[in-house]
Amino acid sequence: MRTPIVAGNWKMNLGMDEAVQLAQDIADGAPENGVKLIVAPVSVHLASVTEALATSPVLLSSQNMHWADSGAYTGEVSGPMLRELAVRYVILGHSERRQYFGESDEEINRKVLSALDQELRPIVCFGESLSDREAKRTEAKVEFQVRAALAGLSAEQAQKVILAYEPIWAIGTGKTASPQQAQQVHRFLRGVLKERFDVETAQTVPILYGGSVKPHNFDTLITQDDIDGGLVGGASLKADSFLELARIAGNI
Ligand code: 13P
Repeated sequence: MRTPIVAGNWKMNLGMDEAVQLAQDIADGAPENGVKLIVAPVSVHLASVTEALATSPVLLSSQNMHWADSGAYTGEVSGPMLRELAVRYVILGHSERRQYFGESDEEINRKVLSALDQELRPIVCFGESLSDREAKRTEAKVEFQVRAALAGLSAEQAQKVILAYEPIWAIGTGKTASPQQAQQVHRFLRGVLKERFDVETAQTVPILYGGSVKPHNFDTLITQDDIDGGLVGGASLKADSFLELARIAGNI
């Protein structure tokens, strides 16, 4: 059995005080129902949020990292720096980073390998555009992205990865993939993992769904066999809705 996960990607939102308050409210209200809760604030808030979460089981993620440990990479943050702040996860390959910052599949793969070296668990994002879906290229696209992101990994390393299927057309649009659409892609990806690694890896790797996840649509998504949780943007910015998602994930 895979542990349900609800991860909040706060993106470039919230002031410092708001971020700390949200972390505290989530820590205070976190249900003890076996659901793993992860929050990902902006890098400059990680140190304060880690303090706010110190005595809670809520885990901390970064939204990005560089592949090098240190060096002349102005504006970047490295894995060892994240580790110093008790960060355990790192979101990699989000479509916003691919789209606005030109991140390539190769770069994402380098980051995945570096994160694993630093004992950070990568949350690897991928997903098709609306034109990919309309041209029936969804499976080809997600298979390509996942194989590229996981290139060079052993099965043992792959089992540390969390995958997050985020159809681009569903992010921030209010248009969620239907539970059937999402399940179909998640099931397909387990087949890809089985072919690329082995049955154990295919059964172990959590696959989250992301894209307009809200309390009113989450129960029908999370109850699908191959959907192990949510990577949540907008609904993770309020403690009430994030905690409601945590409770829903615990009811399955
Ligand atoms: P929304 O939940 O706001 O659609 O964002 C999803 C997302 O991009 C999470 O990484």
